[in-house]
Amino acid sequence: MKNILVTGGAGFIGSNFVKYVLKKYDYTIINYDKLTYAGNLENLTDIERHPNYKFVKGDICDKDMVEKTLKDYSIDTIVNFAAESHVDRSILGSREFIVTNILGTQTLLDVAKSIGIEKYLQVSTDEVYGSLPEDKKEILFTEKTPITTNSPYSASKASADLLCNSYYHTHKFPVLITRCSNNYGPYQFPEKLIPLMIAKALDGQKLPVYGDGKNVRDWLYVEDHCSAICEVLHKGKIGEVYNIGGNNEWYNIDIVKIILKLLGKTEEQITYVKDRPGHDRRYAIDSTKIQTELGWKPAYQFEGGIEATIKWYVENENWWRKVMSGEYQKYYEKNYSTKMV
Ligand code: NAD
Ligand code: TYD
Repeated sequence: MKNILVTGGAGFIGSNFVKYVLKKYDYTIINYDKLTYAGNLENLTDIERHPNYKFVKGDICDKDMVEKTLKDYSIDTIVNFAAESHVDRSILGSREFIVTNILGTQTLLDVAKSIGIEKYLQVSTDEVYGSLPEDKKEILFTEKTPITTNSPYSASKASADLLCNSYYHTHKFPVLITRCSNNYGPYQFPEKLIPLMIAKALDGQKLPVYGDGKNVRDWLYVEDHCSAICEVLHKGKIGEVYNIGGNNEWYNIDIVKIILKLLGKTEEQITYVKDRPGHDRRYAIDSTKIQTELGWKPAYQFEGGIEATIKWYVENENWWRKVMSGEYQKYYEKNYSTKMV
């Protein structure tokens, strides 16, 4: 493995991954990104001149451009982060999710298969497993949990996983799939729970909690996701799925309260709003397989991770203020105007 194509490397997890790999390994990284609203080259300014790094603006649905890039840079490994990634946006409109997440994956698979590469890693999500009961804490998502998708986002991600699996079985194409729980950390777009709540708290605005605030998510610091992907790339068995998570379940409302407390704000800023339609109640990952078979474990505790994340948003106000202007305002209005109760 020498030349890695990282798709979606200008987004939240992708940009953290690019930096993590450049710091730890001697691989060459080609960051291939369409630069949608979620892609931001400012996430990468500290490494943009790194000798082992190159940015290519491109769409994963563009067969010719994908082919040219794979050939131009002698790519031997693909890590596919590129996706439409926000459930609320998939509820407002699912078309882009189907195009990028499914057709984009199919395009990457086809081109990579015809050229021939060593490994293709599909970055998937625990959301493909649906929702777990809140009162049965002993039940977690394993790699054998049946796919049950409830949002257009998760349906599109699951479709892509199934396609990857079919290319492995039918064409012996060297696929690996990872399914991680919710990530948090620097450079996360402030439409997702944690950065949105930090920005709203800092701004003295209302923090919109969906429904009763008792939905459960299993949070992992983004760098732990990056280290897990590297373990799977290096030691994972071709054709297998690996769950990634840190046994770190929280009610949404408790996350919001922690953020307010760490910022020295009061809970009066919390406002309960109308629930997200089809809102999955609980996600929780069993990561026994990656821990026992590949020896991976998370390095961050939640307490340290959330403090570091809040500090980053406090110190990088310009970053989030910029991405929360313009188009973002229209999205915010569209998503939240119907939710206010
Ligand atoms: P993100 O929305 O922050 O970034 C997505 C990136 O993909 C952006 O840079 C965007 O410009 C790029 N992109 C979108 N469409 C593209 C296209 N057609 N061609 C090329 N580039 C395109 O997403 P994220 O939160 O960093 O998530 C990255 C991946 O990890 C996604 O596949 C997501 O499903 C998965 N994932 C995310 C989480 C999470 O908590 N955020 C958890 C598990 C898995
Ligand atoms: P999100 O960050 O969108 O991730 P996902 O839906 O993919 O898990 O949301 C995390 C949880 O926070 C989810 O249960 C929905 C909830 N949530 C709110 O309560 N208010 C909000 O404004 C947002 C964006 C999310």
